Amino acid sequence: MSRDIVSDYMMTEKRIHAVLTAATAILHLSDSPRLDAEILLSHLLSVRRSHLFAWPDTILTSQQYTQFQTLITRRAQNEPIAYLIGHKEFWSLRLQVTENTLVPRPDTELLVEQSLARLPLEQQTTVIDLGTGSGAIALAIAYERPLCHVLATDKSGAALSVAQKNAHQLGLSVDFLCSDWYSHLDDQKATLIVSNPPYIAKNDPHLKQLQYEPLEALVSGQDGLTDIRYLIAHASAHLRPQGFLLLEHADEQAESVQALFQQYAYTAIHTYQDLAGLDRVTVGQL
Ligand SMILES: C[S@@+](CC[C@H](N)C(=O)[O-])C[C@H]1O[C@@H](n2cnc3c(N)ncnc32)[C@H](O)[C@@H]1O
Repeated sequence: MSRDIVSDYMMTEKRIHAVLTAATAILHLSDSPRLDAEILLSHLLSVRRSHLFAWPDTILTSQQYTQFQTLITRRAQNEPIAYLIGHKEFWSLRLQVTENTLVPRPDTELLVEQSLARLPLEQQTTVIDLGTGSGAIALAIAYERPLCHVLATDKSGAALSVAQKNAHQLGLSVDFLCSDWYSHLDDQKATLIVSNPPYIAKNDPHLKQLQYEPLEALVSGQDGLTDIRYLIAHASAHLRPQGFLLLEHADEQAESVQALFQQYAYTAIHTYQDLAGLDRVTVGQL
């Protein structure tokens, strides 16, 4: 939706309740139009959402009104809320996100849950998060398992610097390494390697809906399995005996991912479902 259409649509009325009603109508294609409008307005005004209900008759300044129109225009063009406000909650941790990082998804918390289930609280061990992006998985594990040495890698230096800032902001100890998958790990070994790698096929029509997120965080060859195949094939050099590899994938990839784990002689192979009952995480042990 263009900026002009949004301007026409949003009334000249600048009271909070009126701009929220107008913005909600503009965002009707979103899953949560009213919530989106409230989050964007509370972010712009630096107030809690409850403030909007408490003071519905507050009149926005012209500058605030124009800035809100800009945010609503961008949201109407499908830009993720997290990029518009600059952060996203993951595992109850507030993470900064930029256009260089994937927006962490609630689905990925399943990967964290299954990792934690294999990391006893008192165990001092090494965990590697490959393709850390904003640092979501590594930071959640470091938060829950303070005795673990957590190493987070990414091929994108820009993503790593966001992840580093997040670690600093949260006061969590994680080491970061710029590496094309295992290439710079040298002889480092872990008890558990976890990754939410790119897994969308190059020609997948859904990619259009993800236009704002970095392509290299999403796409993995013709069938979406290029990176997963590589990670499974080469983990053995960096896993301690009986170490685990945990991977997120699309639900329709579960069978192929299981077959790859079998091909490379992993044991205790198991696929876990998300809250919607979809096959999203597969684990294998070496
Ligand atoms: C799907 S995103 C996951 C980001 C984050 N772990 C999360 O769950 O929100 C995949 C990440 O893998 C990184 N990546 C892609 N190819 C890579 C490679 N060859 N080596 C290392 N990281 C890679 C991307 O930069 C991106 O940050």
